Amino acid sequence: MRIGVLTGGGDCPGLNAVIRSVVRKAITEFDDELVGFRDGWRGLLDGVAQPLTLESTIGILPRGGTILGSSRTNPYKREDGPRVVVDTMARRGVECLIAIGGDDTLGVAARLHEEGVKIVGVPKTIDNDLGATDMTFGFDTAMHVATEAIDRLHTTAESHNRILVVEVMGRQAGWIALYAGVAGGADVILIPEIPFDIEKVCEMIRRRHARGRYFSIVVVAEGAMPKAGMLAVSDRELDEFGHPRLGGIGQQLEGEIEALTGFETRATVLGYVQRGGTPTAFDRVLATRLGLAAVDAVHHGQWGMMTALKGARIELVTLAEAVAQSREVPQEEYERYAVLLG
Ligand code: F6P
Repeated sequence: MRIGVLTGGGDCPGLNAVIRSVVRKAITEFDDELVGFRDGWRGLLDGVAQPLTLESTIGILPRGGTILGSSRTNPYKREDGPRVVVDTMARRGVECLIAIGGDDTLGVAARLHEEGVKIVGVPKTIDNDLGATDMTFGFDTAMHVATEAIDRLHTTAESHNRILVVEVMGRQAGWIALYAGVAGGADVILIPEIPFDIEKVCEMIRRRHARGRYFSIVVVAEGAMPKAGMLAVSDRELDEFGHPRLGGIGQQLEGEIEALTGFETRATVLGYVQRGGTPTAFDRVLATRLGLAAVDAVHHGQWGMMTALKGARIELVTLAEAVAQSREVPQEEYERYAVLLG
């Protein structure tokens, strides 16, 4: 069988581990041929691809990023996009696709499946916000990077008696902020799911100072919002899936906390550092398991399905179910850690 593979959306540590496991299993167990489309859906629109072989995937397991490249190209933004995808597959003799991506990439996969394309999805995102899987690979790595940064910021915050605001990724879901904040012993954690009251944030910091702790760490997800406030978005255009480019809440908090408390405050934006570099062992194993299961799904003809982590097992769920709802931090999960804050 000739299988097409693509990686779409924001890159994520562990993408290469999926590609490697897919290639190894498909070739050694089933004698398949693998075609890697470049830059997500763009490769299918522009007809740009490369062969994926045992040789071309040697040594990629610990490498961050994706050897196939990625983009946020949306075929449904072009009138003839879906037809071009089908034509490209036919021209190259590609019978089916393994699409590795987050809700946008898999949303396209779900629609293409409805139109008859044979497709299996593999979930990825550092944000951990995909419904129907208990965890996505990339999240563990991002959490480690953010935690290490918080540890480092702790020592400099303490030396200078400063408030340090750490802005982490997370547009709609605050998993990185919450768990890196808990792991790093943050004093305030702000997530998109629960709008914050700046007065209460400052009160927590003042109380800490009154107890003789003259520094604080505030972890904020990029999508966190003040109550009844506006999200800080840059004025640049939306991407093809309609997402604004976020960023700025950390800086905003820096100014407001300093003005309201009088304590010296500095912001650090972790940004793409969280997405780059080598995956953790956990992410390598999870990515590998999801890739192996995707090849099985292909050979069982389980089209329109996505491999997913359910408890400790890898199972299949429908793509439609996977993209129907994003996985956000439940209020009770956030509140569980309140006792550790401040
Ligand atoms: O991968 C998801 C994510 O990391 C979000 O948290 C972030 O807002 C977004 O990607 C930004 O990625 P890009 O600038 O590549 O669109």
